[in-house]
Amino acid sequence: MSESENENNIGQFTLPETESSLFHRKKKFIFIIVATLIVITIAITVSVIFTKKAKPTISPTTITIDTSATETTTILTTSTDSYLTTMNEWSPTLSVIKRYEFKNSDFQSMVTVDVNEDNHADIVIGDERQSRILIFLNSANNQFNDEIIYETDIIMSSLFKADMNNDNKIDLIGISGGPNAAINFLYNTGNETFYRRKVIKRDPRIKNIELVDINQDNYTDIVIVYSNKPDVYIIFNMANEDFSNQTKYEMKYMINHFKVLNINDNQRFNLIVAHEDQNVSILFGNYNQSFIDEVNYSTKSLVHTILLNDIDSDDNMDIIIGNYNFNFQIVFGETSDKFYQSVVYSVGLYNTFLRIGDLNNDQRLDIILGDYATKKISLYFNVGNRTFINSTIYSTNFNLENAQLVDINNDGYMEIILIGTDSIISFIEILSIYS
Ligand SMILES: *[C@@H]1O[C@H](CO)[C@@H](O)[C@H](O)[C@H]1NC(C)=O
Ligand SMILES: *[C@@H]1O[C@H](CO)[C@@H](O)[C@H](O)[C@H]1NC(C)=O
Ligand SMILES: *[C@@H]1O[C@H](CO)[C@@H](O)[C@H](O)[C@H]1NC(C)=O
Ligand SMILES: *[C@@H]1O[C@H](CO)[C@@H](O)[C@H](O)[C@H]1NC(C)=O
Ligand SMILES: *[C@@H]1O[C@H](CO)[C@@H](O)[C@H](O)[C@H]1NC(C)=O
Ligand SMILES: *[C@@H]1O[C@H](CO)[C@@H](O)[C@H](O)[C@H]1NC(C)=O
Ligand SMILES: *[C@@H]1O[C@H](CO)[C@@H](O)[C@H](O)[C@H]1NC(C)=O
Ligand SMILES: *[C@@H]1O[C@H](CO)[C@@H](O)[C@H](O)[C@H]1NC(C)=O
Repeated sequence: MSESENENNIGQFTLPETESSLFHRKKKFIFIIVATLIVITIAITVSVIFTKKAKPTISPTTITIDTSATETTTILTTSTDSYLTTMNEWSPTLSVIKRYEFKNSDFQSMVTVDVNEDNHADIVIGDERQSRILIFLNSANNQFNDEIIYETDIIMSSLFKADMNNDNKIDLIGISGGPNAAINFLYNTGNETFYRRKVIKRDPRIKNIELVDINQDNYTDIVIVYSNKPDVYIIFNMANEDFSNQTKYEMKYMINHFKVLNINDNQRFNLIVAHEDQNVSILFGNYNQSFIDEVNYSTKSLVHTILLNDIDSDDNMDIIIGNYNFNFQIVFGETSDKFYQSVVYSVGLYNTFLRIGDLNNDQRLDIILGDYATKKISLYFNVGNRTFINSTIYSTNFNLENAQLVDINNDGYMEIILIGTDSIISFIEILSIYS
């Protein structure tokens, strides 16, 4: 298609050298001692400096399930009753283990990825103010090196990660919307360098992408939706960092968010779609670049997040939906890939993003909701049986844009990394969860 054009090797940059992992091993005992002291010191400091912070209050009751909104596409009678839990032994305290401030920036998007393959998750942030991404290398002990600034000629409104060229190194992918829409690939050499390649889409405005192997050739393809036209488009990864022209899957309506689900056959896949008018549909794919079936679910407001994971540990993929209202919603996959049941969970927080992760190491995926305006996150612990308890609400002092859940200090527990802004200052705040 004439609207597609490639530009190679737009830029290159080098990461500074970091300490070797051998050094880390040799100093392991000292690090543990130092880490303990640092954590204690920080904990004391933080409790002095930040007066409000975590108020862990385990509610003895479960989240109210709005059964009036429960829909099902099946005759399966899955219980949506709530039940009392025995979670009293888990009373988490959230404490700030690290906080960074940056002037003249606007942190919006974030991925965590082990950029330099030292087994420590690094933080990569997209800056909406200055057309650049910032890479913070994790040097262990909750310490991050000074940011590596990688200038881009375009503001990347969303960051993604995937191994795009099958060299077993995670690459970074940034999309920029607006009239200068482009997909930017930052290929990780593992040599502490990246090289950049840009796929320009001149005309359409990229709204969202998904990185997934559509045609089962073991290369990650790109699925795109645009904000100025309906339909879903696929750009196939042709290997050698080359991409196909886009293939169109016809749709009747504009898409807000989406995820690709259940890829069983070459080019036949299901799609989870959040409409611009708020509802969510599961579309069942056909071989001829169309969808043959569709099931609609009502949501309480416009959707901000769709995630796929097995929340109830029954080996079926579930659809986790975050929307800008006082609830989150899970469409549970049942025994076959055509059966789903939707459950709406009412919560006490208006929210603008949703993340999942096993926060308390009980092998169940928990949920956090965050809100931009009220500067709060709230934690919901999965206690099995499709039931969550509402737990801690944590307040910070900046507008929250995004969060990631990752074990940043290799202590076996996930930390919560928050980013956001307060006028022209941006923040990274790393929270630890201790029982
Ligand atoms: C993509 O489309 C352009 C213009 O239609 C065409 O010249 C080119 O060969 C196509 N590329 C591939 C890989 O199909
Ligand atoms: C590794 O880094 C060196 C020095 O920056 C550079 O010359 C070389 O091309 C890099 N190798 C790869 C595979 O990128
Ligand atoms: C993709 O990877 C799988 C698992 O390694 C392998 O069985 C399959 O043959 C690969 N497919 C292609 C097209 O290379
Ligand atoms: C795909 O196949 C379905 C069912 O056979 C048919 O209804 C539909 O029109 C076809 N779509 C396209 C784009 O060929
Ligand atoms: C699902 O919702 C979409 C968008 O509102 C609508 O176009 C479509 O007809 C609905 N499908 C069904 C099966 O109700
Ligand atoms: C879609 O959303 C509208 C409100 O925007 C609601 O009235 C309607 O019932 C929903 N349709 C479905 C099929 O969920
Ligand atoms: C838990 O429920 C109570 C009562 O409905 C509510 O006040 C509180 O805000 C909720 N907490 C969270 C984290 O949603
Ligand atoms: C889950 O729910 C079922 C039926 O309501 C009940 O029999 C079972 O004990 C519950 N499991 C747990 C772990 O609470």
